[in-house]
Amino acid sequence: MLQSTIKQFPSSTGIYLPPGASKRGPIHDGVVSVALGQQQATSFDGEQLSFNVIFTVLQGLGQLNGRAFGLPTPIYLIYCGTIEFSCRQIREPTDGAISFNLVANCLAMRVLEDLPTPCLLIDERRMEANLEQMAIKADGVGLRPHTKTHKSVALAKRQQLRGAVGITVAKVSEAEIFVQNGFDDVRIAYTLVGDQQLRRLADLSSQARISFCVDTKEGAHLASSVLGKTGVSIDVLLEIDTGYGRCGVPYNSNEVVELALELNELEGLRLCGILTHEGNAYSHNALNATEVMAQTRDRMLDVAVRLAEAHCAEAATFEISMGSTPSINVFENNSKGGFCITEVRPGNYIFNDLTQVALGVCSLDACALTVLSTVVSRHRTSRGTERFILDSGRKVLTSDSVRDKPGYGCILYNPRTRVAHPHTRITGLSEEHGWCEVQGGGTFSVGDRVQIVPNHACVVVNMMDKIFLVDGSTVLSEIPVDARGCVI
Ligand SMILES: Cc1ncc(COP(=O)(O)O)c(C=O)c1O
Repeated sequence: MLQSTIKQFPSSTGIYLPPGASKRGPIHDGVVSVALGQQQATSFDGEQLSFNVIFTVLQGLGQLNGRAFGLPTPIYLIYCGTIEFSCRQIREPTDGAISFNLVANCLAMRVLEDLPTPCLLIDERRMEANLEQMAIKADGVGLRPHTKTHKSVALAKRQQLRGAVGITVAKVSEAEIFVQNGFDDVRIAYTLVGDQQLRRLADLSSQARISFCVDTKEGAHLASSVLGKTGVSIDVLLEIDTGYGRCGVPYNSNEVVELALELNELEGLRLCGILTHEGNAYSHNALNATEVMAQTRDRMLDVAVRLAEAHCAEAATFEISMGSTPSINVFENNSKGGFCITEVRPGNYIFNDLTQVALGVCSLDACALTVLSTVVSRHRTSRGTERFILDSGRKVLTSDSVRDKPGYGCILYNPRTRVAHPHTRITGLSEEHGWCEVQGGGTFSVGDRVQIVPNHACVVVNMMDKIFLVDGSTVLSEIPVDARGCVI
């Protein structure tokens, strides 16, 4: 960072520039708006000021070699004269009160053009809006977000700040990452089988409250045989199939009570509740998400009442967990026999994606995650359409599709407003190439960059080591995908 020297200049008309800044590097004339977001500055009398700063560079933006200033390259310099800025001050600064810190921040700023592609971007405002909306929807029930969508400690902390009571993961290795980073209530919403995983689970239970799922007698006995030897007792949730048809004891079978009674007898396990994942909320041709939500909720409450009758559950302490983004988006609680749903576990909502858009859960405008990609080739096809190739293939966008819809993501015409490109389709993928077709005349040139809303955000994130948090075209920070590839 540049040395911070306080310089005087008249407020709201200009900004101090380091000597020689205008004399280096290629200069592109034009009007460029740069939103810097929240900035801190120090006034002459030592007061800390906060600004929301938007600079409009009226005469140009100069790029120069940042090494001259000991900064990462490339950096951007506001190189000459007239710069307008508007400050929404938390406190009114006196004339000439803005410190050189502000200039130093500007110089260190990165913009989208600085990022090598392909890479992932999170639009911070959209993500924060998604988090806030879900916190409101989950008011009155515990929110335990599934972190498989972002696999990131920093983003799970943001969910905690919005009131999450704990987090959900799918695998022990993910739980290890989050526990190492201070999370003290981690639910593994997965039927864990495997001696090694169970021993690691026992180790983790000394540092945090850990729970996991069981849905078969065999699984329960295998877990008990390992955990019993370690001397710890771990919370288990009996997984119930409420209609999705993946894991879980069928909600209406006798097995529910039989397995609960058996779990109560097994060493190393403590039955603390029931859990379901209503993945059938993603089905287009059966019930809609509101109907799936109500059906799941009521089936889970019925199971709880039956377990209470068999003395396996007490309403005051028994946990009842359900969760998927489409159903929790329309969640309403209910009660039966003193039981109600105690927690919800949506995951995808933090970013949303084309799958949620296709289901009507959200609009394209609420999709926070995009893939930034570059056009690396362009040719006209014999059919008269234009084909261009992006540097994002299957290893970035993944081959997940949106049910009944062709294509591998939505290219945005305007990333700021999330308006889709009307004539462009990503029609195919090979490992490192995205094949796109444009009807009629092409509008893309080699070197152009596009932002793509992916079909399925959760799998795309797992393809990358980090994601860039952005505000428009300003890069705010890098977020590591801490639990990337944790599948064991
Ligand atoms: C067990 C479990 N719980 C919760 C979720 C979260 O669902 P969604 O991604 O729809 O929010 C999933 C998603 O796969 C899941 O498998």
